[in-house]
Parts: sequence; C-alpha cells; structure tokens
Amino acid sequence: MKQDVYILAVETSCDDTSVAILKNKSVLSNIVSSQKIHQIFGGVVPEIASREHDRLIVPVMKEAVKESKIKLSELDAIAYTRGPGLLGSLLVGTSFAKSLALSLNIPLLEINHMQAHILSIFIDDNTEKPKFPFIALTVSGGHTQLVLVKSYSEFIEIGTTLDDAAGEAFDKSGKIMNLDYPAGPKIDKLAIQGDCNKFKFPKPKVEGLNFSFSGLKTNFKNFVNSKSKDFINKNINDLCASLQSTIVKILIDKIIKARDQYEINEFVICGGVSANSYLRKELTGLIESHKIKTYVPKINYSTDNAAMIGINGYFKFKESNFGKFSDFSVSKYPM
Ligand code: KG4
Ligand code: ZN
Repeated sequence: MKQDVYILAVETSCDDTSVAILKNKSVLSNIVSSQKIHQIFGGVVPEIASREHDRLIVPVMKEAVKESKIKLSELDAIAYTRGPGLLGSLLVGTSFAKSLALSLNIPLLEINHMQAHILSIFIDDNTEKPKFPFIALTVSGGHTQLVLVKSYSEFIEIGTTLDDAAGEAFDKSGKIMNLDYPAGPKIDKLAIQGDCNKFKFPKPKVEGLNFSFSGLKTNFKNFVNSKSKDFINKNINDLCASLQSTIVKILIDKIIKARDQYEINEFVICGGVSANSYLRKELTGLIESHKIKTYVPKINYSTDNAAMIGINGYFKFKESNFGKFSDFSVSKYPM
C-alpha cells in the first residue's frame, strides 16, 4: 500500500481564500489571501467575498502547488470546507474542489470548518499534542463553542454563544472606536500599552457552559458614545486593554467551569481569537492556578487557513480506509 498521503485543501468559508498542500500531517504549503476590500465596509460583504474567492482561487492554488514542489498528479485527494460559512463563498470553494477532484480522478473529502479549527492542533509542527478526550474552545468571528472531543471524528458541543461570537465582540467594539475591520488584532496591539483595570465592563451571567457577548458590546457602546472623541483617542489603549481583559475573563471562567463539570484537564483553544496575545498569556497561567493544560495551534493555523482543512482531510482519508469518500453530488452547507 502507498505510504505517504498527499492532500490539496481548499478553504473559502468567509473572507480568506486559501489553498494548502499536505504530505501526511506536514504542511508543504499554506497560501492565504485575506480579502482586504471588506475593511472599507467595516465588515464582510458576502457578495463581494464570493467574487473575490472566484478571482483569487486559481492564482492561490498555483502558488500553493509551486511552493509545495509536488505535481498535481501526485495528489491522493482534495479536501474542502463544506461549511459552515457564507453560502456564496462556500459555493466557489465547493465547485473548485469538485472540478479539481473530477479532473484528476481522485477522491473528494468534505470538511467541517469548526472541526477543522480544532484538529489544526495535530498539524506536525513540533508542538505538543493533546490526548483524547479533551475539550476544545473554538473562538472565531462567527462562533464561540465548547466542544468535547473524543476522537478525530467524535465531537459533542457542550456550550455555545447565545448571541454574538467572541470575535464579533472584538470586531463590533472596535468599530465603535473607529478601528478597521477586523478589529481583533488591532485591539490586541493597542492593549499592550494599556491598563486593563482602568475601565470596568460587566461580565454576563449566563448559566452553564454557554456564552453571551451582546450585553458587553452594548455596555461598551453606551460608554464610548457618552465620551468625547478626544477622550476616546487619549484613552484608546486603556479602553482596548479593559475590553480585551473582560472578553478573556469570560472565556477563562467557562474553561474552568467546563473542567470542573467534565473533569477533563486538557484544553485546545482554537479559531481566530486564539491568536490573541493576552488570551495566550492567561492560558499559560491556568496550569499553575487550576492544573489545566492548554494547547494552542501556531498563529498561522489559528486564523482561517487551508492547512487545517488538509489535516482533517488526512484523518478522514485514513479513517475512510482509502475508499469511502464524498459523493460528487455533495453540496455546501451554510451557517
Ligand atoms: O477563525 P477566523 O479567522 O475566521 C472565522 O471563522 O470567523 O476568526 C476571525 C476572528 C475575527 O473576529 C478577528 O477579529 C479575530 O478572529 N482575531 C482576533 C485576533 N486575531 C484574529 N481577535 C483578538 N485578538 C487577535 N489577535
Ligand atoms: Zn474560522
């Protein structure tokens, strides 16, 4: 039997056009083209996102193939994001992946974007890996979920947001301060010079392992709108630090609660917000304070990228015993 598995992976669920090539669990190339055009609108415009994917997907794929130094004829399968995501964006990736798989006469592997974020931790990159079962906190622009992960294919949602996602809380609060979309990374940078105890914002009281961020956003908006432009500009670092620490505290509190409830001490933190430097710092403190060991994917694999789709494709390829793949009638599934 063939030893090595080569997979080309496609990710187009939101506003990043990405193609990666993996040899088993190692990434040979991972090209991500982030669509900057949405910044002027202060958020992702779905119709523009699909048109941009359509324009970028072939050049991005060519660059990924070139960087990987492999030939298309060496590929064993095509993995792609089936959902969740924006319908038009998924349609571009789905059609592209199907066409490529058909033309090369190789199998097609449909991948769930949220599961892909979680399993990105297993990419071969010399980082320590968690043992099953573990709990994953997935924090992105569209989702905030706690998931009990029993194996490469068993995922049970144990908590979710009742309204906004954590990334949305960063992005929408940033917009209130006139920061460009996506505001998460900008708030992270501005907060470094700020005092996180300068302003107090309320943490929501949500039962169990669910989350809520819309109350915090409204409170932050009312506070900012009650101040002058001059005040906001002078206090921007402290505002960012105080907001960021409130969001991070909400996440950390639920991690501790999930540990107590499930008696599992291993956590994977993934999705775009896991790139946040303050969150990463607070997570490392959890081992001392609560004996909770956390695993965070490298930053390149935290925000949307195709390598995470590729690693999921690899596990699916292995699991399907080199034979049970997606039917070509498979369609995308949106949010
Ligand atoms: O996973 P992702 O790339 O795309 C989605 O599937 O949504 O996550 C994007 C989200 C955005 O809300 C962005 O502001 C946030 O991740 N984000 C951050 C940081 N980097 C990205 N939030 C806080 N701090 C960061 N450093
Ligand atoms: Zn994502």
